[in-house]
Amino acid sequence: MTDLSNLILLPATEEQKLESRHRSFKEWGKDQTLEQYLVRDTLLEREEHALNGKFTTWVLTLADDPKTMEFKCSCETYRRDALVLHPSAQKPSSAPAFGIASVFTPAEHRKRGYAKHMMRLLHAELQRQDAIASVLWSDVGAKFYAVCSPYDSKVVSSASSLDGWIVRGAHSALWSTSQQLTANTDMPVGWRWLSSTDMPEVWKREDQAIAAQLSESVGNAKDKVLFSFLPSAGVAEFQVVRALRLWKALAPPLEHRGIELPNGQGLVTWSFDRRPNTLLVTRIRVMSSVSPEDIKQLLLVLMGLARTHQQERLEIWNMPEALIPASRELGFEHEERTAHLPSIKWYGPEPLDKVVWANNERFCWC
Ligand SMILES: CC(C)(COP(=O)(O)OP(=O)(O)OC[C@H]1O[C@@H](n2cnc3c(N)ncnc32)[C@H](O)[C@@H]1OP(=O)(O)O)[C@@H](O)C(=O)NCCC(=O)NCCS
Repeated sequence: MTDLSNLILLPATEEQKLESRHRSFKEWGKDQTLEQYLVRDTLLEREEHALNGKFTTWVLTLADDPKTMEFKCSCETYRRDALVLHPSAQKPSSAPAFGIASVFTPAEHRKRGYAKHMMRLLHAELQRQDAIASVLWSDVGAKFYAVCSPYDSKVVSSASSLDGWIVRGAHSALWSTSQQLTANTDMPVGWRWLSSTDMPEVWKREDQAIAAQLSESVGNAKDKVLFSFLPSAGVAEFQVVRALRLWKALAPPLEHRGIELPNGQGLVTWSFDRRPNTLLVTRIRVMSSVSPEDIKQLLLVLMGLARTHQQERLEIWNMPEALIPASRELGFEHEERTAHLPSIKWYGPEPLDKVVWANNERFCWC
């Protein structure tokens, strides 16, 4: 067994942060040069979602030599605004929550329990910053993060104690552009294309829409706690900034960032992913007043966009219920993903099965 007692979790020094990026380049930088990879991360750090201390790189390092470059593993966290509606409350309240990314142990240090130890220690650091929850999107299945429980966990401890990050809502709706598409994919009159300059205001309106959505649930959510990230303050914009290289490579180019329906009745935004090339919806919302015909047309416009811009598929994470019948009619497949599994650790007093992660969509991925 590896001795973990001389290891502590600390925010990385600037040098350690850079070293962590050099290390992970081998794994995640495959289609970029090292310079492109490092520049992208430096630029992302200057974006609103990371500013003012919201972004931290953590290292599991030696207690007696904390600034060493021989740290064992690393990860990153983003502090974000969330809303929480408790069963007895009359309105939602705001609370900090964290997104976790880039969990990485170099190959020569793997399978010695370092990453698990780091993640178990991380809970206490985030709780010290008043986190109500932390989330991550696992690319290593459900088990690894589920067993990373806090060291002071009250859950009866056993070898398989599941008080770490638990998968919630890994559903994807997928439409392949290789399918026939003969229907009209035009934008209906009155719908508005969104541009980059529209987005700061759009995301503030979405914050309000989410607050209203939670407020409407007052009294209806029974004994559940509702939890949602907010997309403003650069959180949703990160999806586009991180994928800028993919946007720049689009043929034909695409300026539009989303579509807004009249009178705040709905909205869809998107970004791109690769392997396979995908038009990935980051946020989709339709009010109950939107007709089934308009819902279908919204999906058709997205399908047309995916095809026009040479994508292999269109993907929507946790598609809202109201869109499912139209999506099936139009040939979408619905499946449980095996990658990017949304996983949550709740720090409130309630057990996780009483917590609903609302708006569990791509916009808050990191
Ligand atoms: C995943 C990773 C962080 C684990 O680091 P580590 O220090 O070796 O982790 P630990 O020693 O604490 O735990 C190892 C466990 O992780 C599991 N694991 C590692 N890679 C895995 C994978 N790709 N899929 C599923 N489980 C995996 C091991 O099987 C082992 O499980 P066990 O304890 O039941 O035997 C490391 O393998 C890594 O950096 N991988 C590449 C980057 C990556 O995929 N990061 C996660 C992104 S969500």
